[in-house]
Amino acid sequence: RNRTPKDQLQRPIRDLRISVTDRCNFRCTYCMPKELFGDDYAFLPKNELLTFEEIHRLTKLFASLGVKKIRLTGGEPLMRSGLPGLVAMISSVEGIEDIGLTTNGLLLGQQAQPLYEAGLRRLNVSLDALDGELFGQINGRGIKPDMILDNIKLAKAIGFEIKVNMVVQKHVNDQEILPMAAHFKEWGIPLRFIEFMDVGNDNGWSFERVVTKKEIYERLREVYELEPVDRAYFGEVAKRYRYKDGGAEVGFITSVSESFCSTCTRARLSSEGKLYTCLFASSGFNLKRMLRDGTDDDALLSAITEIWESRMDRYSDERTEQTVKRKKIDMSYIGG
Ligand code: GTP
Ligand code: 5AD
Ligand code: SF4
Ligand code: SF4
Repeated sequence: RNRTPKDQLQRPIRDLRISVTDRCNFRCTYCMPKELFGDDYAFLPKNELLTFEEIHRLTKLFASLGVKKIRLTGGEPLMRSGLPGLVAMISSVEGIEDIGLTTNGLLLGQQAQPLYEAGLRRLNVSLDALDGELFGQINGRGIKPDMILDNIKLAKAIGFEIKVNMVVQKHVNDQEILPMAAHFKEWGIPLRFIEFMDVGNDNGWSFERVVTKKEIYERLREVYELEPVDRAYFGEVAKRYRYKDGGAEVGFITSVSESFCSTCTRARLSSEGKLYTCLFASSGFNLKRMLRDGTDDDALLSAITEIWESRMDRYSDERTEQTVKRKKIDMSYIGG
């Protein structure tokens, strides 16, 4: 076991978010607008994606540096074939205490059972509206919420611990805040409201489109009594509250109104094997080249350690009208 590196702001490395594909079966307006991600869009060819063996090797190296949590993302991670096999490989890595998957839920009907059998226990499912027309419009594919809701129900019955993520955009889906809250309170599933972020380059973001935690909280408080829940661990992203009359929790992910960079312990690995130290980074370090050059574990560990130790990222702490215009990696490429 190696020493856990700390970055320039004294943050240890604890989580690795792994994107397993840059493809998605949705075309959410704020992530992969269909005008830009059309039929002729050049997704990564298969040989450019990290293989499961390469991901497994990197996971072992990261775990030896102190990473305990793995999150699988995409694009849409369930589009990567054989994913349960990867889950099984990662589950067996010493030091990994937690694996989660972030998905749009559409393919869970077929894959929830094999994923559970491979050892996955936690799912975060994205759902932005209950209104069929609106949800179909936001996901760009006319997919109805019932399909996602049915899959959530199924996954819950299998035994998964599930949370629902809702990206809130002003004048787009903010009227869905209360219906979503009522629905998932009833189902006993934590709902997290995500402040719309200026990730990527073409998602139509502006400060005016953000609905802050405060506004959402006030709307909920007109109907429900809420009490704060203590954070479960250092660096927890969501601020959580519990309904006083029992039932579930809600959470807020406040990258815009209350940034959480000071406790950010997350590294991100793109599906083509580049390492990023911030969701808003403009470039990453090509680990795949080293993997395919025959570089040994010690040299890989030194490279990763050096990258982490020189890290100074705190994008959300410093967000201004100017930083918003910077060129950044696409959300669909890095997976959130
Ligand atoms: P849990 O382990 O279940 O708490 O997962 P999570 O909330 O960290 O992961 P998820 O993929 O569900 O992310 C929810 C939202 O939080 C997404 O919109 C992410 O982009 C956002 N998010 C996660 N980590 C960070 C981060 O380090 N910085 C910023 N700005 N947003 C983040
Ligand atoms: N702002 C906030 N959240 C976003 N997501 C995608 N794009 C954005 C954005 N611009 C969410 C997805 C998913 C998670 C990985 O990130 O809806 O829940
Ligand atoms: Fe796909 Fe998720 Fe992006 Fe929507 S937000 S296009 S589901 S990767
Ligand atoms: Fe971490 Fe960057 Fe998000 Fe801040 S903006 S919490 S540094 S990923």
